Amino acid sequence: MYEEIVSTVTSQFAATRTDLEDLVRIPSVSAPEYDPAEVVRSAEAAAHLLEAVGMQDVGLLRVGDAHPAVFGEIPAPPGAPTVLLYAHHDVQPPGDGWTAEPFEPREQDGRLYGRGTSDDKSGVVMHVATLRALDGTVPVGVKVILEGEEESGSAHLDEFLASHGAALAADVIVIADSGNWRTGLPSFTTSLRGLVDCVVEVRTKQHAVHSGMYGGVFPEALTTLSRLIATLHDDRGKVAVAGLVGGDADPLDLTEEELRSQVAVHDTLETIGTGTLTSRLWRQPAVSVLAIDAPRISDAVNALVPVARAKVSLRLAPGQDPDEAMGALREHLESNTPWGAQVTVTPGSVVHSFELDTGGPGYSAFSEGFRQAWGRAPIEVGQGGSIPFVAAFSAAFPTAEILLTGVGDEKSRAHGPDESLDLEELRRGCIAQTVALIELGTS
Ligand code: BES
Ligand code: MN
Repeated sequence: MYEEIVSTVTSQFAATRTDLEDLVRIPSVSAPEYDPAEVVRSAEAAAHLLEAVGMQDVGLLRVGDAHPAVFGEIPAPPGAPTVLLYAHHDVQPPGDGWTAEPFEPREQDGRLYGRGTSDDKSGVVMHVATLRALDGTVPVGVKVILEGEEESGSAHLDEFLASHGAALAADVIVIADSGNWRTGLPSFTTSLRGLVDCVVEVRTKQHAVHSGMYGGVFPEALTTLSRLIATLHDDRGKVAVAGLVGGDADPLDLTEEELRSQVAVHDTLETIGTGTLTSRLWRQPAVSVLAIDAPRISDAVNALVPVARAKVSLRLAPGQDPDEAMGALREHLESNTPWGAQVTVTPGSVVHSFELDTGGPGYSAFSEGFRQAWGRAPIEVGQGGSIPFVAAFSAAFPTAEILLTGVGDEKSRAHGPDESLDLEELRRGCIAQTVALIELGTS
């Protein structure tokens, strides 16, 4: 029975690949400062894809001036469950270091390169391909929601659910925005880290003064900020913010050598933190300084800088309450600012971590789908990234089963230059999801 699914998805795969290429050509960057019209354009293109595979009530869902989400539905046959398929159609800014045009998809050695090929336009086209393969005879209800502001932190999440949440009710929610542990190895993601961030501003004086006349008596803001930032880790590089939750993870087969090559670190670079690599990646807090506002070197003058700001990001272990973590970070920054400088902490993102309940009907159905598509049983992995919608869905639909899937792999370089997707993994992912929906409709 499933041979037919395999051959249908495979014969339709040229169309799926074209869908992906067409979406990648739209630079739907949701970050501020980028043209929001491109996100609208990608929402419209995705809506056309949903219509073309027979979805009903297809439209853009908006709240205020937020980037639009896309919705489509196929009502459930009587007695059948409803599955909500999630992906996001916005992408990260391209950033530097690409070896070719980020928004011009190109194939090399079975991988498709371009911003969003993996994160997360692969999820969008996987949902489309599933419906195309089922060709109108869908044994379950299907709803598709394609978010437009995930990469900028889902700022309108609560408003969105208040306005449109009722339409999204489902028995099983599939978030196709994670990835497989390795190419060829189907994986359920069973945990995500949470995230809080803030801007910390340090002020030492009301205006700049001559660095020769006054330097040596009063500190300037950049040194003061640097010393504050340096207190966030101990000498071993372990997070020094007190009171944060942390745990251990199965080390799996990940070696330091492999991780070093994935991340392309310089030979001499040491690792920071303690514990197995997977624990540090998935179940320990991590602090990073993402950006600093300070005079540019080309604008430097011999003056003591009066004010400087840093954006500090804190990834949270599963189980960590984000408000408590933000409180701990704030307390740490306020109490470790040296030399009596003034400090202001302005909180930003708040994203809950997530821990999956395995063992539901969706989990079984997708396990079977993975087996059919990859010829082997899936494994369970954690992930260090965050997806704001996950905890929001779980709070809005407490009885729904939530699954985290996706066809990125260890070579995908989400958020980095030369992001890519293994096309064979995408084909298998489409097979797996199609099989899973049939399983759910017949169980
Ligand atoms: N797809 C990622 C999350 C992810 C990364 C899942 C790696 C599994 C493995 C998602 O698009 C993302 O990058 N999320 C942001 C959320 C933030 C903007 C609130 C993140 O984690 O930085
Ligand atoms: Mn993503």
